[in-house]
Amino acid sequence: MWAGRHVILGVSGGIACYKSCILARRLTEAGARVDAVLTRSAAEFVRPLTFEALTGRPVLSSLWEPGGALSHVRLGQDADLIVVAPATANLIARAAQGLADDFLTALLLARSAPVLLAPAMNDEMYARPETQANLERLRVGGAVFVGPAVGALAEGPSERPGRMSEPETILAHAGRLLRSKGRLAGRRVVVTAGPTRESIDPVRVVSNRSSGKMGYRVAEAAWERGADVLLISGPVALPAPIGVSVRRVESTRELEAAVREERRGADVLVMAAAPADFRPSNPSENKRARTDGALAIPMEPTDDVLGATCGERKPGSVTVGFALETGDALAKGKAKLERKDLDLIVINDALEPGAGFEHDTNRVAILGRKGNPRIYPLQSKREVANHILDAVEETLE
Ligand code: CTP
Repeated sequence: MWAGRHVILGVSGGIACYKSCILARRLTEAGARVDAVLTRSAAEFVRPLTFEALTGRPVLSSLWEPGGALSHVRLGQDADLIVVAPATANLIARAAQGLADDFLTALLLARSAPVLLAPAMNDEMYARPETQANLERLRVGGAVFVGPAVGALAEGPSERPGRMSEPETILAHAGRLLRSKGRLAGRRVVVTAGPTRESIDPVRVVSNRSSGKMGYRVAEAAWERGADVLLISGPVALPAPIGVSVRRVESTRELEAAVREERRGADVLVMAAAPADFRPSNPSENKRARTDGALAIPMEPTDDVLGATCGERKPGSVTVGFALETGDALAKGKAKLERKDLDLIVINDALEPGAGFEHDTNRVAILGRKGNPRIYPLQSKREVANHILDAVEETLE
């Protein structure tokens, strides 16, 4: 997504400047044309030569360079995106006041490009009402912020925000800002992922092999398209995607309660979870002792979450279900789409190599209420997530 994009990387003077070098490198590697703009104090922390070597382009820092007249205006208007990282308290104060006393502030004042700021400062400075008022003023003016994060500051550990977000986080937010023009921008997307677990006794469970990877990739991709994303996740070993809120559940009952609560506000529900279909009828309160011979556990069916919550469905919303089948997947998927009152169903055949649970890849067909199924080759789950969201965007009113 960065190929051919023109990004201004504004750098103001704080110790987090060393992380801006990584950001410059990542953006350049990803194919963006990066113009680094340093304030005078930034150049005290990291020499302009470093950014020049990383971006392969001259660094801009003075309004008074011969031949550079009006370049602050041109750059602020031509760029696809301006990222200021770190944005110090001083830079934020100057920008909020509309000062234009160096190249970076002049460029910010003359900009028409979207701007993402990554504040970084001492935690006291960040908490000051003056700084908060400056941030609010910039926000009202259309600036978007990432961080600051909580964690170690130059002067020691802190429980309060002040530390600049990590380059990967800034990059993800920058990507979202660039892409946030589609139909999912500003929409509420709820994604369920992973297995559920049903207790046999306090230490043993009935579950399935779902890894949660497909749902996590859908949540990540939806957030990058500008959606406000909630991921309702069963027990999995995956980190939360950047920007996505996660609500953890254990059993199918808990999943159902969470979906019921969240569905009312959801413009899109993607049910990628693999809820356990059966639970032990009488889970034991104490650990069952090992017994000789066979063990029979009476089981009862769990509720169908999609069916049980369809009364909570928001009018005009889009519901996506999954069908993991073994053999004759398309026909079974189509029947499931109708039975579960879905708008879209993502069908895969568990018997095909590389598809289904635990893999990083999937081979799917996507079927809507009308039209022919779209059949895709074996792809990464991230690519599949994008196809699913393309279909969702087409279906959304
Ligand atoms: N699903 C659900 N509640 C359940 C089981 C599944 O809401 N208790 C959802 C899944 O998240 C998925 C869709 O229903 O989006 C289809 O799941 P699948 O396991 O294929 O369907 P089942 O309802 O179990 O149907 P069958 O056993 O007949 O294949």
